[in-house]
Amino acid sequence: MSEAHEERVAVVRPAQVQRFFAARRAEADSTLWGFRVVWHEQLHALEAREGGEVAGAVLFEIAASLARVQRLVVAPEFRRRGHGRALLARVEEIANYYNCHKVTLEAPKGSSAEAFFLACGYRVEATLPQHTFKLDVDVLRKFLL
Ligand SMILES: CC(C)(COP(=O)(O)OP(=O)(O)OC[C@H]1O[C@@H](n2cnc3c(N)ncnc32)[C@H](O)[C@@H]1OP(=O)(O)O)[C@@H](O)C(=O)NCCC(=O)NCCS
Repeated sequence: MSEAHEERVAVVRPAQVQRFFAARRAEADSTLWGFRVVWHEQLHALEAREGGEVAGAVLFEIAASLARVQRLVVAPEFRRRGHGRALLARVEEIANYYNCHKVTLEAPKGSSAEAFFLACGYRVEATLPQHTFKLDVDVLRKFLL
């Protein structure tokens, strides 16, 4: 890195830039999207249980009319028993309650995860070529309205 850049840019802890982002968010988002943005972000978590055990879980965020599945996992011994479908259906209900028009997520093209989401009514919206681990990744979605 050149000396000029070293003076200008410092490595800091992520929590430190969060304060800056929080203070600047309203203006930055409105400039980014081209209209006045009010941004409410929520993180939701659900667990599926069977016989007193946690069979699976999902973490998803809701912001800007969009629900995004961050992670959905069913433990191997509980797979193919409908837990994944039940968790996703609950995600969609909650997203709908908060006026989301769409649920979205990313999955490796041709993966068993993608087969699961397709079976649950999701469609491929775009392919990100040579993405995570340099593999093609599909953006999947289901419209709720
Ligand atoms: C993908 C995953 C969440 C599915 O959970 P699950 O509880 O086994 O799924 P369900 O039993 O609800 O399956 C619903 C339908 O999806 C399809 N499906 C599920 N797993 C599948 C697989 N491995 N291959 C092909 N189709 C599959 C089937 O059509 C299934 O219906 P069926 O069992 O009546 O044939 C689970 O396999 C998993 O945790 N995988 C590892 C992590 C992962 O890939 N997470 C998703 C990305 S975030």
